[in-house]
Amino acid sequence: MTKTNKKITSYLKKQSELSLLRFITCGSVDDGKSTLIGRMLYESQMIFDDHVNSLKQDSKNHGTQGDQIDFALLVDGLSAEREQGITIDVAYRFFSSSKRKFIVADTPGHEQYTRNMITGASTANLAIILIDARNGIMTQTKRHSFIVSVLGIKHVVLAINKMDLINYSESEFKKITDNYKKFSKKLNFSSIQAIPLSALKGDNIYKKSSNMKWYKSSTLFNYLEKIDIQKDIIGNFIMPVQFVNRPNSSFRGYSGTIASGLISSGKEIIVLPSRQKAKISGVFLEKSNIKKANIGDSVTITLDREIDVSRGDIICDSKNPIQCADQFNVNLIWMSQDPCFIGRTYLGKINTQKVSIKILDIKKIYNVNTLEHRPGKQLSLNNVAECVISFNKDIPFKEYSENKRLGSMILIDPINNQTVGCAMINFALRRSKNIHLQELTINKKHREKLNGHKGRVIWLTGISGSGKSTIANALEKLLYKKSKKTYVLDGDNIRHGLNKDLGFTDKDRVENIRRVAEVAKLMCDAGLIVITAFISPFRIEREMARSLFKKDEFKEIYISTPLNVAEKRDPKGLYKKARSGEIPNFTGISSPYEEPIKPDLTIKTDKKSVTSAVKEIEKLIRD
Ligand code: ADX
Repeated sequence: MTKTNKKITSYLKKQSELSLLRFITCGSVDDGKSTLIGRMLYESQMIFDDHVNSLKQDSKNHGTQGDQIDFALLVDGLSAEREQGITIDVAYRFFSSSKRKFIVADTPGHEQYTRNMITGASTANLAIILIDARNGIMTQTKRHSFIVSVLGIKHVVLAINKMDLINYSESEFKKITDNYKKFSKKLNFSSIQAIPLSALKGDNIYKKSSNMKWYKSSTLFNYLEKIDIQKDIIGNFIMPVQFVNRPNSSFRGYSGTIASGLISSGKEIIVLPSRQKAKISGVFLEKSNIKKANIGDSVTITLDREIDVSRGDIICDSKNPIQCADQFNVNLIWMSQDPCFIGRTYLGKINTQKVSIKILDIKKIYNVNTLEHRPGKQLSLNNVAECVISFNKDIPFKEYSENKRLGSMILIDPINNQTVGCAMINFALRRSKNIHLQELTINKKHREKLNGHKGRVIWLTGISGSGKSTIANALEKLLYKKSKKTYVLDGDNIRHGLNKDLGFTDKDRVENIRRVAEVAKLMCDAGLIVITAFISPFRIEREMARSLFKKDEFKEIYISTPLNVAEKRDPKGLYKKARSGEIPNFTGISSPYEEPIKPDLTIKTDKKSVTSAVKEIEKLIRD
């Protein structure tokens, strides 16, 4: 081995032994965040000489610091950022000192970038909240601190920057610190360390500042090197199974990242949800049997006997199995332009499992700037709310405060597959545990046999005046003649009874369709052919309705008519009223209609007769 190789090897060995601290920086463009990170990279000597030279040159060309180095240029790598002088995405940077390794997630501070902040914060142990000493605590300081606390970060460094611009004033520093401590009482941080500094001049970053002799505590570097985060992450062994590893018939291992605790050969484990037990026979990292592994390690484990384990299962300590539940109180951060409604169903990913998630209730919507909260029925972009949600199945979980990975999930729009929110479990609700489905002797199969046909749902969707009710009526007549057992659920009728309490706002329409879908499910279970005639303007609700039924049971029929044709028909005179402003939120005029993307059938009622439309639908449901 050459001398250089030896040096590199010993450096890498040392690095691998150092503990890792992940932290995020929160602050705005003007607080000097990029300068602070640039300064940390520079002071930790993580920058090559040629990079420093080009930085010096760049500082002259684009910099804002005259002849001095502009550290912000080190981190504001994206050209758009340079031009606008802002940071626009999460950037992860690595550096280390002789005592610790660091990964810093640099996240933008603007309100519309909360999503990036969440991405950066999800794995962090600590947050540096940057404050411009001239301004003190700003609205955004409160917003960042609140989100940091919702995301379960327990340690905060209050970096009071630009002390050079307030003459290194101790009293100003104290004032800001006291204010922050007062404000953050409700946020449950385990530690808050305020450090007066100047990222630009280097005061209290790496070296103790001679300008602030009154500050006796650690420099920023020193503090980050020392802070103890170990006690935050110890727990019993838990590993969600990412995949079953079977390279050949003689090896069967289960791979995943350890989400909590440690594991070693010989330990007894339990697999959830099946509750089968076994002992660990090997713990593998790549191909070597390392016998034991720790939280955060990605390993493959083998068991001493064959039991059924599949992707998405959780393997944990047999003496401390984690609990399973399907209803939770969560903190939900909404990250989509499309609102979130009570009653709406989304796709979800928790651990390695896919679930369907229904929003049952919105308890509190927080004002992220003041920490006050209000009740509400829907969420919009960047809202943070306490909600009740349910899953379609029992899932092993941990409360978020105990384990971030096992206690958090993302919500996905089932139509466009975009991530729309993320949720952190506060606690599970036990109420679902006390409600058991009652087994009945006579079931759907018996009823279907008696009726002579299967239960079905014909879901007609389309704008008002498109002909849904006319077609539903004609279809029922045809089926009745053929001795089929049917029932029509029609928008106007249901809104006179069951859904009398609902209007036409988006949130009410979501609830309208949720109830109708559930009623249709019961009727289908009764063995009936259910014909529904509702505008049902949103794709998500129609997908939710479909998801309640077996593949062939549910047919979505798009009753399609150009708006001008429906408006000319105007059977109830409603379009006229809507145009004159008498009816707000009228579909097609002041409220949206989302056309089906892949309906089972489209009927163009401006081109087709009712008789032939009905025949076409009837063909679809012949047994
Ligand atoms: S949905 O959008 O929630 O599915 P639904 O089908 O129940 O609506 O009710 C629609 C019927 O209510 C229409 O056919 C029309 O007769 C009547 N209506 C009254 N106000 C409105 C409105 N603002 N938008 C649409 N339809 C309305």
